[in-house]
Amino acid sequence: MVERGKALYGVNCSFCHGSDARGGEGGPNLLRAQVVLDDQNGELILPIVQNGRPDRGMPPINLTTAQVADVAAFVHSFRVGGYDISRMTPPTILVGNAKAGEAYFKSACASCHSVTGDLKGIGAKYADPKTLQNTMLLPGGGRGGRGGGGGGPVVTVSVTPAAGAKVDGRLVRIDDFIVTLALADGTQRTFRRDGDVPKVELHDPLAKHRELLGKYTDNDIHNLTAYLVTVK
Ligand code: HEC
Ligand code: HEC
Repeated sequence: MVERGKALYGVNCSFCHGSDARGGEGGPNLLRAQVVLDDQNGELILPIVQNGRPDRGMPPINLTTAQVADVAAFVHSFRVGGYDISRMTPPTILVGNAKAGEAYFKSACASCHSVTGDLKGIGAKYADPKTLQNTMLLPGGGRGGRGGGGGGPVVTVSVTPAAGAKVDGRLVRIDDFIVTLALADGTQRTFRRDGDVPKVELHDPLAKHRELLGKYTDNDIHNLTAYLVTVK
């Protein structure tokens, strides 16, 4: 949970709350925030993340309950046992088993990737194992499609109004009430959502990566990283 939370935190929170959660980049110190001190498993952090505090500089962020629990586990990990893991540099993160990672890759990744094709040389491309691991978890920072400026692939969306033709574009924003897309001509359109109307079809190239984030055990992550560094 801590590894997953760290990846999610790095993408969604660190640019305001700082990579060590001590604030300073526009967001307050989270380690000292009462709501974080009182939080157990993300239950108090969840509404703040999902609703944001738009009037005070924190946007709503579209994470699931499970993802916020992971982020909470990461933030809480700073204080476990009274030591601060952000100040500790492990000798190596390569504690996994490359053979087991290879087997996991064959079953979970090979439908889209090949180590002799698109991922050839991936271990050299991201020479720092930590970067490799974060990239593998959420390629491009996972921010494609949310207009966040990340390098990830773009999320597209098709909206079919009850009366009218289907509209396709790049996803700008979606929540339970509205969906906004950017059209090929550069204009944006926003549709009000009411249950299943209009019909909204998301095409997120990284959907599988997001889904996998909820499934990995810590061992799976370590094994995969140990395997991918060997892919030269
Ligand atoms: C664009 C900047 C920005 C991002 C991104 C951001 N925050 Fe915030 N966050 C803020 C600001 C500013 C506040 C203070 C709002 C206020 O004054 O109530 C805040 C407040 C909070 C608080 C409440 C702190 C308190 O003392 O009440 C929590 C918890 C929090 N953020 C968690 C997160 C988490 C977790 C993420 C990532 C999933 C995140 N934030 C992403 C800017 C940001
Ligand atoms: C359903 C398809 C799919 C599956 C399954 C999948 N990925 Fe990906 N992966 C993608 C897409 C799409 C990208 C983004 C490619 C791009 O940006 O051009 C990506 C990017 C990556 C990257 C970054 C490549 C680079 O050069 O920066 C790595 C590393 C990666 N995936 C590893 C994995 C691993 C490990 C697994 C299995 C645990 C996995 N992927 C499963 C679709 C998939």
